[in-house]
Amino acid sequence: MITLNDWLHDEVRKIGKDYSSHDEVAMYDESHAKFRDVPKENNELLDTLSVKPGESLIDFGCGTGVFAIEAARRGLKVIAIDISPAMLSYAKSKATDLSVDSINFVESGFLNYQHLSGPVDYVTTSFAFHHLPDYWKAIALKNIYNMLKDGGRLYIQDVVIEEENSIENINSFIESQEQLGGEFLRADAIEHFKDEFSTYDWVLEGMLERAGFTVDSKESISNLVARYYCEKIT
Ligand SMILES: C[S@@+](CC[C@H](N)C(=O)[O-])C[C@H]1O[C@@H](n2cnc3c(N)ncnc32)[C@H](O)[C@@H]1O
Repeated sequence: MITLNDWLHDEVRKIGKDYSSHDEVAMYDESHAKFRDVPKENNELLDTLSVKPGESLIDFGCGTGVFAIEAARRGLKVIAIDISPAMLSYAKSKATDLSVDSINFVESGFLNYQHLSGPVDYVTTSFAFHHLPDYWKAIALKNIYNMLKDGGRLYIQDVVIEEENSIENINSFIESQEQLGGEFLRADAIEHFKDEFSTYDWVLEGMLERAGFTVDSKESISNLVARYYCEKIT
């Protein structure tokens, strides 16, 4: 009998940016600081979710671990998941340096992670969901739905494309990234749209609804970046 496992998308195969490279990982925080205020983002998110000590949170695509560490410092029980061993090792050593030892780091991904320890209060993912092609985004959202408690919250921040003037907007974005970070951020932005799987806002919103989520609010940071605050209501 054929099962999903026979044709499951290989989420570990490199598509686009190579986060298995230790050099790439070492420059990640510094390069992102050129166009994001990550500590502010993380604190605003935790404040907006009104997290309380003892609650549980899964962060998919945790990268260098800065959000997971901040969440753990606020007393959350955090599972930080990433497919990249290089990212995880960097994140773990950062957590150790900061004496944060409560995070459960897991080498896995949106599609392969098996959550066995009871439903959680929050699932978050920032700039990672676009690594999955659309069909697989929908499967991942259904998995996430099953990981959450009733009333649990899902937060997605990502590059999400507004349809109107999308080509002009992407061209301007690539130019502005070049102004902020030279050839490195220009190439990074081009690779994003050429090889990775950012989708239209209406596609992602349709998937969220079909997976069973209610979108409580959407914050458009620009015509290419959005934050979705969603809720599992059964
Ligand atoms: C652009 S970084 C985002 C890191 C961090 N969340 C942030 O906001 O800066 C994308 C991360 O997602 C990870 N990733 C890629 N595909 C993934 C998947 N299928 N499941 C989980 N993580 C994935 C990459 O290894 C990388 O660490």
